Amino acid sequence: MGPALADVSLARASKKVRDSSTPRFHAFRVLFCSLAVISLVAYKCCGFPPLQTYHLSQSWLAGHSSSEFVGSLSPDVNSTTCPQWAALHPTKHQELSEDLDAAYDSEDFKQAAIQALGDAIRVPTESYDDSGPVGEDSRWHTFAELHRVLEATFPRIYESLNVTKVNTYGLVFHWQGSTTAKPYLLTAHQDVVPVESQTIKDWKHDPYSGYYDGTWIWGRGSCDDKGDLIRQLLAIDSLLKQGFSPARTLVLAYGFDEESKGIEGAGRLARYLGQTYGRDSFALLLDEGAGYLDMGGVTFAIPSTSEKGYLDVKITVSTLGGHSSVPPSHTSIGLLSRFIAAVEDNPHETSLSRAGTAFATTQCHAVYNPMFPEDMRELARKAVTDDAALEMLRGGLLALDPIYKAMLGTTQAVDLVEGGVKVNALPERASAVVNHRIAEDSSVGELQQHLIDLLTPLALKYDLGLAAFGNNVTFGGAGQVILSDFLEGALEPSPVTPTKYGPWAILQGSIKAAFESSPTLNGSHVVVTPFLSIGNTDTKFYWHLTKHIFRFSPSFETDHYNGEHTVNEAVRATSLNEGVRFYTKFILNVDSSDLP
Ligand SMILES: *[C@@H]1O[C@H](CO)[C@@H](O)[C@H](O)[C@H]1NC(C)=O
Ligand SMILES: *[C@@H]1O[C@H](CO)[C@@H](O)[C@H](O)[C@H]1NC(C)=O
Ligand SMILES: *[C@@H]1O[C@H](CO)[C@@H](O)[C@H](O)[C@H]1NC(C)=O
Ligand SMILES: [Zn+2]
Repeated sequence: MGPALADVSLARASKKVRDSSTPRFHAFRVLFCSLAVISLVAYKCCGFPPLQTYHLSQSWLAGHSSSEFVGSLSPDVNSTTCPQWAALHPTKHQELSEDLDAAYDSEDFKQAAIQALGDAIRVPTESYDDSGPVGEDSRWHTFAELHRVLEATFPRIYESLNVTKVNTYGLVFHWQGSTTAKPYLLTAHQDVVPVESQTIKDWKHDPYSGYYDGTWIWGRGSCDDKGDLIRQLLAIDSLLKQGFSPARTLVLAYGFDEESKGIEGAGRLARYLGQTYGRDSFALLLDEGAGYLDMGGVTFAIPSTSEKGYLDVKITVSTLGGHSSVPPSHTSIGLLSRFIAAVEDNPHETSLSRAGTAFATTQCHAVYNPMFPEDMRELARKAVTDDAALEMLRGGLLALDPIYKAMLGTTQAVDLVEGGVKVNALPERASAVVNHRIAEDSSVGELQQHLIDLLTPLALKYDLGLAAFGNNVTFGGAGQVILSDFLEGALEPSPVTPTKYGPWAILQGSIKAAFESSPTLNGSHVVVTPFLSIGNTDTKFYWHLTKHIFRFSPSFETDHYNGEHTVNEAVRATSLNEGVRFYTKFILNVDSSDLP
């Protein structure tokens, strides 16, 4: 996905300002592109210039001679700054795992997988920003057709697992384990972003054809997120076919409005799962997310272990109206512009905290990414203990690529403005909306306080009352400024998933096992690194269910013909059976693990 597309997405989003989540889901896909940026390589995706054109300023490199730089480690060599566990092959179920590896390479399986995904794509389960609740808005009925297709494709799953429908279209599959070990949760979403009718002519194959051309499976949802949904179900179905019965209970939960607000689907599923299984009742949760990227011959898998927070702040200035032939010095529009300028002139500071996800990701690139600037590897190593080096590393990253500004701090963008109705009438009211993505180590409250501290002096200067997020801060005679949560979409940054032990190690080992056992993925050459998402998935509803939340989709960026949320969404057919291989290893590993 390129920056141009991001612009289109946001333009589209601002047309639909009634829905606060619109900018967020687009951002999640912009993020996939950003992943490539942060990994400092796959610029084709984002139209950034090649790496070599970046030159680091001499000042912060002072004292580092090039003889200290040693190049990247092979992915097979472990490191202390980016620990890599060995591939984790399911030992308790070794034979079963090997049988399934062989099955997944068979032509029969590949054809069945292509058919299953094609059938799912052919049901246009579009998610609309203006959808009414289930039961009132008839457009949700399409999801019943998808349920019929899934039931026809996977009769074994429907016969063997307990199926619960939550809010009619949310799907929960419960596969009872033989032990009392904590259950675990796999999730995905059934809905897709709508296809804009004027773009249909630009699709090589109809967006709901599910057409297979020998390499690609075409259609909306093929990448996001029906591919994951079908890969997971294919893995479960294959395990059932082999007679596998789990020791640990597995729960699958599939929402149906991730691409809009998420409240009808994951929002209701979260409540159901909390009530049925309890708080903190799952050993781990795996949802959609970023996948694999190639960095100069080394594959990086980048499961997201945290997500930024979110807040849209509306600034409304109200003053007395009147005829503009006798105007005051400042109209509400003039005053608003001063508030906007103050916001833009005081951007949020960035920080590179050793405890943060961006630091962990940077360490992994410094150690294993052949494309990471040589002169920064040493700096990254020193930054583990040396505060001056840490500060230089922060400066270096910011200079290296603008994406680090988003990774290392809260961002702000004034995206909407309105005010004034007539050329000879003083505007009584003017407003702007500032979109924020909140840093991992900050909070909604901290951001609100930042704005109050920043804007109170201005309010006093112009004798305006300031009411911020429901509280009166100052009073004034010339008018009023109100700061509010536009559309009430505030979201705290997610909890950060631990990556030192347990579930993370099993995820990492399963990814490596999927590579080692694959005839096409080239051995164990994969480095697994934690990652911070700039956008949000359905997991924002699931924080109470487990501390161990991962967002990861087992496919390469190059397995996607043209990215998500755009024309010509298509997925490489071979990524289906490779993804099923991953889910199978993961399920068998988690099943036989002693995770608490
Ligand atoms: C389905 O639910 C029943 C009753 O709660 C339970 O005994 C059974 O083990 C469940 N089956 C599966 C596959 O989860
Ligand atoms: C803020 O001030 C206004 C006007 O003085 C008053 O009506 C309102 O109740 C106050 N709000 C709070 C939360 O104190
Ligand atoms: C695997 O290696 C072969 C030969 O070295 C190469 O042609 C192929 O592109 C590689 N595949 C991946 C997924 O890296
Ligand atoms: Zn998605």
